[in-house]
Amino acid sequence: MPLYLVGGPVRDMLLGRTSADLDLVVEGDATRLATEVAQDLAAEVVTHRRFGTATIKVDQQRLDLATARHETYSRPGALPKVTPGSINEDLRRRDFTINAMALGLSDPRTGELLDPLAGTADLEQGLIRVMHPGSFRDDATRIFRAVRYEQRLSFRLEPDTQRYLTQALDEGMLATVSADRLRRELGLMLSEEQPLQALMRAGNLGVLRSLYRPLGNASWLGSFSQSRERTQPLVLVAALAYPLTPNEGEAFISRLNMPSRWAAVVRDLTQLKVLQDSLAAPQLSSSSLYHLLEGRSIASISALLHLTPSPVTQERLTNYLEHLRYVRPVLRGKDLVSLGVPQGPKVGQVLRQLKDARLEGRVTTRREEADLALKCLAAREG
Ligand code: CTP
Repeated sequence: MPLYLVGGPVRDMLLGRTSADLDLVVEGDATRLATEVAQDLAAEVVTHRRFGTATIKVDQQRLDLATARHETYSRPGALPKVTPGSINEDLRRRDFTINAMALGLSDPRTGELLDPLAGTADLEQGLIRVMHPGSFRDDATRIFRAVRYEQRLSFRLEPDTQRYLTQALDEGMLATVSADRLRRELGLMLSEEQPLQALMRAGNLGVLRSLYRPLGNASWLGSFSQSRERTQPLVLVAALAYPLTPNEGEAFISRLNMPSRWAAVVRDLTQLKVLQDSLAAPQLSSSSLYHLLEGRSIASISALLHLTPSPVTQERLTNYLEHLRYVRPVLRGKDLVSLGVPQGPKVGQVLRQLKDARLEGRVTTRREEADLALKCLAAREG
């Protein structure tokens, strides 16, 4: 069966970049081939006969194998109708010219580069180009993919491609894609090497507005102060929610059918926004600051730290993230019981008082904590 390396790995090889996984296409039955190869290698294999695809896992490496196919779309967003085809048809059904090249891996085409759509010319010029005007309509997830590749490779959208992309957005094509698939695409964008750039570009192109209107062009991301280390995807999910009210936050969560971790950071961020005045108030004690932030996701606090224009708030959030959130009294519940605090809710109350005193620097040693615990007890008994 004629076998080819296709798509991402060919593109990356020509660019001198490393590729995470290997995608292979075979003109023939990929699931049969994969099963036999896996047997020979004593490797694990997962096959999807219906789609003509298989994955072999060898030594932590993934080999994806697919039967060369021809695809037609009955309507925008519909799953394509798939029939086995030639390698040329398989390349023509793909998203961008730079992803539509193959390298022959079997005789007589071993080592031959198949480039029927002039992908190498676009690689040289740094262009992301679709194969036909309806490409984004066929599959609107390509809108996200276009932005990802453009930003990852420092390429440009070819002008017609950009026009088709904008048209597809204007025609509301993102609505043809399920919330889960949209979220997956956004997640892939957030996991890129330079996610902020990709998000801002998506904002400028109108992708985020089309995803959820109140996100607009996400201009606030321009003031996101980037640290040297890579920003965590969850921090960026929270950052996206920065201009939203709590109600809009809920609508954003449903729009993308967000899993609980994403939903939590969106909720926390929109609620922290409501507390912004309290967070910047002149006489805020460390314990009050602690209680305003306690229990909120670290990602949402980090996002606010990167976005708030208030230096006072920045300083307080940093203090919380770096110090306050780790503060604990030295004395434990059992220590309080041996000091005479009755078992039950009182232990918790005294522990909280000790923690507040620690946060405010009123106690710094075990001895001072014990004295304070006894005082609390005396006050209560009195
Ligand atoms: N593809 C496509 N349209 C899509 C998704 C994928 O045409 N909506 C094709 C592209 O040819 C792509 C290949 O399927 O190269 C594999 O997709 P994927 O693994 O998502 O992308 P890679 O090119 O491998 O890129 P990445 O480096 O992001 O993994």
